[in-house]
Parts: sequence; C-alpha cells; structure tokens
Amino acid sequence: MLAEKIDETEAAALPPLPITIRAGSPRDYDGMNALFAELDALHRAARPDIFQEFDGPARTPAHMERVLCGPASNMLVAAAEDGLAGLAVLLIRPPQEFAGAVPRIVVEIDNIVVCQRHRRRRVGRRLLAACIEWARQRRATHVELVAHSFNAEAIRFYESFGFSPSTQRMIMSV
Ligand SMILES: CC(C)(COP(=O)(O)OP(=O)(O)OC[C@H]1O[C@@H](n2cnc3c(N)ncnc32)[C@H](O)[C@@H]1OP(=O)(O)O)[C@@H](O)C(=O)NCCC(=O)NCCS
Repeated sequence: MLAEKIDETEAAALPPLPITIRAGSPRDYDGMNALFAELDALHRAARPDIFQEFDGPARTPAHMERVLCGPASNMLVAAAEDGLAGLAVLLIRPPQEFAGAVPRIVVEIDNIVVCQRHRRRRVGRRLLAACIEWARQRRATHVELVAHSFNAEAIRFYESFGFSPSTQRMIMSV
C-alpha cells in the first residue's frame, strides 16, 4: 500500500524544466514584462486594497534599464526553450547608518516569479540559488526578502530553501 502511494507520487512529479539562468538584458523586455504582469495580477487579486490596475506595460523600459544597468541591482532570468520561465530582481541595500546595527551587506530579492505553466519544476529553486550566488560574489552577509502574509505558497517555497521569518510588518486601515 505504501509502495503504491510512493509510486503514484513519483509518477505525478514533473521533471526539472531545462533552463539556463543568466543576467537579464534589454532584449528580454517582453518576457520580463509578461512575468511581472503575472506577479502584479496575483498581488492585485489577493490585496485589492493595496494593488491596483494601471495603464501601460507592467514595467517601463526605463525602469528595467535602471535595474539592469544600476551599480547596485540586477535581474536574473531563467530562459527556457519557449521563452522566459522566471525572473528575480536583486537590490543591494544601502548600508545602515545606525551605530547600533551590526555592519551587514544585505542583498534584497525584490521580486521572484515563475510563470504559472512552469511552476513546481525547480525553476524557482534554481533562480533562488543563483540569487544567493550573486549575493556571495558581492560579499553579502545576508539575503533578505519580503513575502505578503497571504502568499502561503511563496512562504513555503522560501522556507523549503532555508529562509526563516525575521520581522513581522503589521498594517491597519485608519
Ligand atoms: C513561489 C514560486 C517562485 C516558486 O517557484 P517554483 O519554480 O514553482 O518552485 P520550485 O519548483 O523550485 O519549488 C521548490 C520547493 O518550494 C516549495 N514550493 C514551491 N511551490 C510551492 C507551493 N505552491 N506550495 C507548497 N510548496 C511549494 C516546495 O518545497 C518545492 O519543492 P517540491 O516541488 O520538491 O515539493 C512560484 O510559485 C511563483 O512564481 N509564485 C507566484 C509569484 C510569487 O508569489 N512570488 C513570490 C513573491 S514574494
């Protein structure tokens, strides 16, 4: 009975998607925008009190260029056979000025998204591993990110990788 169950689980699991992880480029603009649009839609659907529809592309070319070419930021993309399967936005945080804070170099993962049709095929995990490597190459001491409380799936994803909660941001309408 147990063996049958294991066999069923293995049969249902999809193999890792073949991808190449690399730095994004302005040529990826359309693919990146499609991914940002998926992420924005998810946030709008769950938190219409915070996120709203807007005209125009999910992100402007000028915004993308700033992130791609800035000295303290980058975007990593997961390129699959049928286009971009995922992306991650990386920012190096300005150092804390508070004398009581231990000096740290913090890389923030500002956004990470895998297109719906390629989820649970290890794309996110490999993107996250590449983010950690990017941070290590910049001598970061920590990698941090923020997840909305509604997003239990993303929280499980980060926890499965080894992230753990630090602060808890509270909110109240007034
Ligand atoms: C979160 C996200 C990036 C994960 O990407 P992914 O490629 O599907 O994840 P992976 O296949 O690499 O999963 C790695 C592990 O994370 C965990 N995990 C991933 N998705 C999960 C889910 N929906 N539910 C529970 N655990 C999940 C599992 O432990 C998984 O390992 P397993 O498949 O062997 O069980 C993807 O679901 C996504 O783009 N979600 C929408 C955007 C979003 O919420 N981004 C985060 C904003 S903070």
